[in-house]
Amino acid sequence: MHSIDMELVEMTLDVMKYTIDRISNITPELGAPKKEEELLEMVGETITPKGIGGENAFKLFKDVLVKATVPIDHPRHLAFVPAAPTRAAIMFDLVTSASSIHGAYWMEGAGGIFCENQAMKWLVSLTGLPKDAFGVFTSGGTAANLSALVAAREEWRNRNPKNKDCKGLLLTSSAAHSSIQAMAKVMDADLILVDSEGEYLTGNDLKSVINSLELKDRDRLFAAVATGGTTNAGIIDELDSIAEVCEKEKLWFHVDCAYGGGALAAPSVRHLFNGIEKADSITIDPHKWLFSPYDCGAVIYKDLELAKNAHSQKGSYLEIFKDEGAHGFNPADYQIQLTRRLRGMPLWFSLAMHGTEKYRDSIERGIELAKIAANKIRERDYLELVRPASLSVVLYRRKGWTPDQYRDWTYKNHREGVALVTPTKWKTNGEEETISRFCFINPDTTEADIDLILDTMK
Ligand SMILES: Cc1ncc(COP(=O)(O)O)c(C=O)c1O
Repeated sequence: MHSIDMELVEMTLDVMKYTIDRISNITPELGAPKKEEELLEMVGETITPKGIGGENAFKLFKDVLVKATVPIDHPRHLAFVPAAPTRAAIMFDLVTSASSIHGAYWMEGAGGIFCENQAMKWLVSLTGLPKDAFGVFTSGGTAANLSALVAAREEWRNRNPKNKDCKGLLLTSSAAHSSIQAMAKVMDADLILVDSEGEYLTGNDLKSVINSLELKDRDRLFAAVATGGTTNAGIIDELDSIAEVCEKEKLWFHVDCAYGGGALAAPSVRHLFNGIEKADSITIDPHKWLFSPYDCGAVIYKDLELAKNAHSQKGSYLEIFKDEGAHGFNPADYQIQLTRRLRGMPLWFSLAMHGTEKYRDSIERGIELAKIAANKIRERDYLELVRPASLSVVLYRRKGWTPDQYRDWTYKNHREGVALVTPTKWKTNGEEETISRFCFINPDTTEADIDLILDTMK
């Protein structure tokens, strides 16, 4: 299995050929799921005592299994938050694996961690955080949010011995991503969702909720989470005023920019993030709007030491990593994971190859596509914008449609390989309705793609 023979050479060539074909195909087949029993019937059991052979296994993947997946970079995949990794980043993902580097500690991963840190330096510069701020790459936004909030709670507990045995309390908006609720559960922290009434959360909203808390709950409050680009609508909370309240109330200020973080590089919308430079921590997902392959999130801290206090693991076999001789930046100290892939390396290579200006332009294109789509919606009498496009998200309704019609339209377009565009919900005047939503990431999406999709709603 570890020997170098003809079978390995052939398998390697097959993989390279597939990879080249795939990354040069700008409209891969829009695959659709099948039931597990159906897939099993089509491919049979693949794990056997003797193995089924690389050629055979790869054929099953190419002919059957990959067709039961949705290529996230398809130009008409506009659902959820799609992705469009650069070809350079994808190729370097292969290099990252082939190089077999342990990314937890500088002693083993120095050269790779150097690459990650170069990319991180650029990310941090986009935030405007003070000069000592820095961060690490994580498996995604959920892990970044958890890492940041655990650091926040640790800081709060260390600040006052009374907090040690106390269950913490978090505040965020009702439009925050579900991962905040999920991670509060993981941390066993309580969470209050502040109703932002379908728009952005403000410092005043936060203040009135804080003022309404009983003293015992006020004492349990350790952090507020704002969103820099809500997943559903691309809305950015009023970061400046929220920062002010957090500072006054001595709360950790976390900004979840998992989706919207790429837009920090876009001059046309950068002002909407004013106040982010006062954050204690920020989440940005390069696997969303910074064109990295899955999985790659990032967490950035104003004060790295606070993250280290929360996350640094201790163990007799780890002591050598902290020794003077192994000295360097240890990513394991700043987030929840120990052994880690150097998942920032594909971003580094792509950034180094293309330069930051191409990133800026590709992100601006997503914002522009959202505006173009909004105009096309306005021009069609059977459609209606629900609210102006925000970042790269467009919410719109097909006049007269019921929730079932949105659902059936989604399935039909998916089945026919036209597009993947899924419904969402939105509250207008207190009433929740089902609507349709675009999220643009891929700069290769064309105006014709948008027309094609909108025309299927006639
Ligand atoms: C605002 C926001 N936060 C967090 C997440 C979770 O990120 P991940 O799926 O990378 O864990 C998402 C995902 O869409 C998001 O949009």
